[in-house]
Amino acid sequence: MKDKEYVRKARLLMRKMTLEEKIGQLNQVGASIYGTTNESGYEEMAKNGKVGSFLSLHDPERCNKLQRIAVEQSRLGIPLIFAEDVIHGLKTVFPVPLAESCSFEPELASRTAEVAADEASACGVKWVFAPMTDIARDARWGRIAEGSGEDPYIGSLFAAARVKGFQGGGNDGNIDEKHVAACVKHFACYGAAESGKDYNTVQLSDNNLYNAYLPPYKAAVDAGVLTVMTAFNDLNGTPCTVNAPLIEGILRKSWGFEGVVVSDWAAVAEAEYHGYCADRKDCAAEAIKAGVTVDMMGHAYDTYLSDLAKKDGKIRRCIDELCEQVLVLKYRLGLFDRPYADLSRVKDLYSQEKLDLAAEAARKSIVLLKNDGILPLKRGAKVLVTGGLATDKRSMLGCWCFPETQESTVDTLSGIKEKFAADYAAVPVDISRYSAIICVVGETNRETGEAASHAFIGLKESDVALVKAAKKTGLPVIALVLSGRPLALTEINDDVNALVECWHLGSVGGRAIADVLCGDFSPEGRLTASFPRETGQCPIYYSHFNTGRPYIAGQGCRCKFRDCDEGPLYPFGFGLTYTEFEYSEPTIENAVIGKNDKIRLSVKLKNTGKVEGTETVQVYFRQISSKPIRPMKSLAAFKKVRLAAGESRTVKFTLDPDDLGIIRTAALKPERAKGKCEIFVGANSEDCKKIEFVTE
Ligand code: GLC
Repeated sequence: MKDKEYVRKARLLMRKMTLEEKIGQLNQVGASIYGTTNESGYEEMAKNGKVGSFLSLHDPERCNKLQRIAVEQSRLGIPLIFAEDVIHGLKTVFPVPLAESCSFEPELASRTAEVAADEASACGVKWVFAPMTDIARDARWGRIAEGSGEDPYIGSLFAAARVKGFQGGGNDGNIDEKHVAACVKHFACYGAAESGKDYNTVQLSDNNLYNAYLPPYKAAVDAGVLTVMTAFNDLNGTPCTVNAPLIEGILRKSWGFEGVVVSDWAAVAEAEYHGYCADRKDCAAEAIKAGVTVDMMGHAYDTYLSDLAKKDGKIRRCIDELCEQVLVLKYRLGLFDRPYADLSRVKDLYSQEKLDLAAEAARKSIVLLKNDGILPLKRGAKVLVTGGLATDKRSMLGCWCFPETQESTVDTLSGIKEKFAADYAAVPVDISRYSAIICVVGETNRETGEAASHAFIGLKESDVALVKAAKKTGLPVIALVLSGRPLALTEINDDVNALVECWHLGSVGGRAIADVLCGDFSPEGRLTASFPRETGQCPIYYSHFNTGRPYIAGQGCRCKFRDCDEGPLYPFGFGLTYTEFEYSEPTIENAVIGKNDKIRLSVKLKNTGKVEGTETVQVYFRQISSKPIRPMKSLAAFKKVRLAAGESRTVKFTLDPDDLGIIRTAALKPERAKGKCEIFVGANSEDCKKIEFVTE
């Protein structure tokens, strides 16, 4: 069925609907993973057409019970949509999205999203509140865990990939039985919250808005995402959820998005607390005129729209337009034909194939930050594992996961015991029998995700003490960091022989960690968010501006801190393998790129080590002068290359100057980059070789 057919059916149905029933479709209620709300009234609401969708219900029988009431007992039998925060898996839990983005494999994210969609749809969920694509450059913000880090190029690739995975690759707009509607969030720029404090104000220049923060949302829209969620924050003084220039202007008019816009939890009503609307009635009026289709748990639409519509024809017309969007979505999802969860699908929900994918994603998400050669350990080696996180199954699952998935989780110690002769002790004791001590440090699941902003992102004192005690034993120390964000690891960095960022890796995270520690899998993850030396450096990111006084070692009056070495502890794009790679000087076909020319780049890569490994060759671009200014580097391309020991390969890239120029408008169409430019090719955003050229 094509869009027109959906619209025709929706309009036919709307001819029978009362104003109250149309408003009901714009109302979303439900529980929250933070605690259930009173569901007793939900059945009544479903029967009376007072609700169009529920969130945070994914028990197929509970969904079917409510659905049966809506379809069989309500006046028009309009089916409900059940929505859920399936951010990185439902029953099979994958690495948190920030970890998964370190695979530098968007295709992998498509596959994990598709499995998540299969499990969600089997449970009756046909709308997931993912992908989160907020660019985040301040690791004090706990929700950095949910996105793809600091860079718009990576963020855009992963946003599009996850949309395709959730919704299915078909571009006919139909969502089949095993796929779901995705929801790009949080529109917009939630990750730029001032001081990294969740829900805080966002003040952004147009330069940063267009060139750094908006592109991933548009990538999701261009990939066909069916819904968008508005952010809690204000953007330059107007709360996003009542921001007509942002929603009607940029999202709908400039980007051509015609789908459902859902507010974040109670965000419509919160426009009053922002000090933007006079009261909740005013919130309802502003939000509906701004183009917000669904009021999630704000109880502004269901309380005030009826009255507002009677007095304001514009609001009545908005209600018709937005109700049509909800009905079109329900037709796309096939809910009028298949309203119920197929309980037979729930039985074989778990599968080894899905767990194998979870293991693959986890292995590829791990980033080796430091290794003096202690890794890989010999399989079967006798190791002592310490640190409370080692046996913490719940934390391995990270933020946004559901209680029923915990018991089967492979925690760090369990995984290590599968490959090594491992003992566990809360603190290092009787160490003579061991070849190494493995300290598991970092964040629990309660310290990451929503409302988990931290003013200090160094390791806890107890973790530092644990590593120092381990070092005192004289044995090699391997630190495994489980976290949902970049932590400031300076305090232990020099004390450890190896440092491995293991994030929160999901259902089989411990097994993936052990695969890397014993060398069954050579680490290939690369950071998509910079790791600061100190909290005080936040926000910190590689694509910074040069300023008029760029840092020069040893010189005063420069853009730097006096009490902290310059730059991150570990930069964007960084990650070690168990081998070494050597780059030739990059070459470019023409030193002057003509109007119709492309930038044709090549570099010779050699595996100079003793084992095979996978390198992620990264290409960064810089336009020397631009109005307004451009960052020192912007990631423009990358390729993962697997080479056997001693193997060489010439890696080629073709870039178009038309894609690399500055973005000056919300249409996000780059201008052609003209004049002196530089390209950097290498292993990460700091370790790269420069080549200069001019574009006409
Ligand atoms: C939460 C989050 C949002 C989530 C929604 C529903 O507060 O901000 O990401 O999808 O509410 O749970």
